[in-house]
Amino acid sequence: MQSWIPLVPDSASTFSWKVDALYFYLSGITLFFSLLISAVLIFFVIRYRRRTPYEIPRPIAGSHKLEMLWTVIPFLIAMTIFGWGARVYFDQYKSPPNAIEVYVVGKQWMWKLQHATGQREINQLHIPVGRKIKLIMTSEDVIHDFFVPAFRTKADVVPGRYTTMWFEATTTGTYHLFCAEYCGMNHSGMTGSIIVMEPREFDNWLSGNINNMSPATAGQQLYQTLGCASCHGANGEGGRGPTLAGAFGKTTPLITGDSVRVDEGYIRESILNPQAKIVQGFGPIMPTFQGQVSEDQVLQLIAYIKSLHAAGETPATTAASPAQGPSPATAPSPTRNIK
Ligand code: CUA
Repeated sequence: MQSWIPLVPDSASTFSWKVDALYFYLSGITLFFSLLISAVLIFFVIRYRRRTPYEIPRPIAGSHKLEMLWTVIPFLIAMTIFGWGARVYFDQYKSPPNAIEVYVVGKQWMWKLQHATGQREINQLHIPVGRKIKLIMTSEDVIHDFFVPAFRTKADVVPGRYTTMWFEATTTGTYHLFCAEYCGMNHSGMTGSIIVMEPREFDNWLSGNINNMSPATAGQQLYQTLGCASCHGANGEGGRGPTLAGAFGKTTPLITGDSVRVDEGYIRESILNPQAKIVQGFGPIMPTFQGQVSEDQVLQLIAYIKSLHAAGETPATTAASPAQGPSPATAPSPTRNIK
């Protein structure tokens, strides 16, 4: 699978060729103008060399034609780079719907990953080939950066917020995962691998690795343990907080008159800093859970809230369904996280 150009990493995702094409385009432009300018330079040095001592060159006034030429041509070239780059960028950083979701928590100095079906991994991510994978990522300490050269994609993993990235692997195999943001002493050792498998092999791997309940199930237990249900029960019981069932993905009005889209970031903020954006019709009575729940647990709560659907609504994602994990009675405690 080694690339035909040495030093260029394997190419194994749906957008790696797009990044490569843009990269070669930039290299081509650079090479073309470097050669052109060098050639013109050498030509001018010879053609306009001083032939006699005390020679005075002919004075040159400006040339509008020439100025226009060397302004308009580079402008057009720069715009092609901009337009093309923007296209590739938006393609990479706008997550598609119906991707398989994987939660990622970076910490000094390891990657902790969890599949929506509950399987946990450290410094390894098993994925099926030919399927869209969406990573929902955060950090427990400092900024890290999830970088998979063979997929030509990377994204910062930032404490206090979620970043997402997605990719679709095109070739099976094992690929490097690096941390691409200096994060302390063992930054260079914060590596791992992405293992791309045939879908059937992946299903076997997944079913052979059930040792955790799904994040949604763990979140449901946590939701009870923390007493969330006394104020906002899943179906509006309690009445002191907004109903959560079916809320995910919708836009909700705030007491300030603004509105907010209920996404992962908003739920996280509401758990850790409940006063920040209060839903219309409710008071600022919710206590913060900052320091009481780990990043893993916040992700579990979010997975649970995502899995709640309003009566009569069809589930948007089946992967996060709480019914999929093993029953809570047989699974280990959700609070036993790998630290
Ligand atoms: Cu984590 Cu560098």
